[in-house]
Amino acid sequence: MSVAPNTPPLQLKVARKEEVARGIHVFELRDPAGDPLPAFTAGAHVALRTPNGLERKYSLCNDPAERERYVLAVQREAEGRGGSIALVDATQVGDLLTVSAPINDFPLPERATDFIFIAGGIGITPILAMIRRLQALPDKRFKLYYCSRSPEMTAFLNELSVPELNGKVVIHHDGGDPTRAFDFWPILEERKNRAHVLCCGPRGLMQAVRDTSGHWPSTAVHFEAFSEPERTKPDDTAIIVRLAKSGEEIEVPVGTTILEALRAHGLDVPSSCETGTCGTCRTKLLDGEADHRDLVLAEHERGNNIMICVSRARSPKLTIDR
Ligand code: FES
Repeated sequence: MSVAPNTPPLQLKVARKEEVARGIHVFELRDPAGDPLPAFTAGAHVALRTPNGLERKYSLCNDPAERERYVLAVQREAEGRGGSIALVDATQVGDLLTVSAPINDFPLPERATDFIFIAGGIGITPILAMIRRLQALPDKRFKLYYCSRSPEMTAFLNELSVPELNGKVVIHHDGGDPTRAFDFWPILEERKNRAHVLCCGPRGLMQAVRDTSGHWPSTAVHFEAFSEPERTKPDDTAIIVRLAKSGEEIEVPVGTTILEALRAHGLDVPSSCETGTCGTCRTKLLDGEADHRDLVLAEHERGNNIMICVSRARSPKLTIDR
């Protein structure tokens, strides 16, 4: 299991498991001896091992001030690879789960005073922790736009309906119809009070927010993916990556990322999210045309940068500054 560097995995007890919306189950995890858990910050996730041996990442949605529990929400993905199904169907209260210490690829920029949160479906989880954190801080303003298919499939409606959040939460149901998707332009057209946007949801929603916020500084728009990006697209081909410093050329087959190919070649390359959202693997692009598949780079940065955890090439060869 990949965990926070140098931190051994935890064995945590399932203290509560409850279906809070259709197909969405909340798990509350505690130390079996009642000891405090490693601290986390809003936006953090843990990686946990499912009963069928897969590793899955889940954002923590409780108040980061709490040290006695981690709360996460699991959507039972009937079309997935079985990790969430095993977790929901084969885990009972009292079971022990192997869980990493919290890792945060989606931190709340607490220096800001104004925040626009955009959540799609189960992407509400890290944002819920952020809202809880902001309620403890003075002079912070935020508004949440929460998109989901229907009320029955919307988790945490009770928590978001409390009087303290009056006027701060907009909930939009599209019924699964793309023509009823929320229009983000009116809220992103103008950046007021140096606001930051934090968005977590399905790829399509994040892409819509990225496209609509192209005129914002890229440092003010933050994304967290809750699912792996597609590893291959139908017209993908093998590409060559040339390392400018050594002149070596590395083949990147279809289905392998540039990051994986560099590592297989013995290179030590930093990464974190590996979903094209955190910015850790940003690499200077010296030659060739990238096929950008990330949500980090602004349009003007795309000519000479590439996120090698997800992006590929439109030209047969790329030369990178390594
Ligand atoms: Fe996060 Fe590549 S590792 S964008």
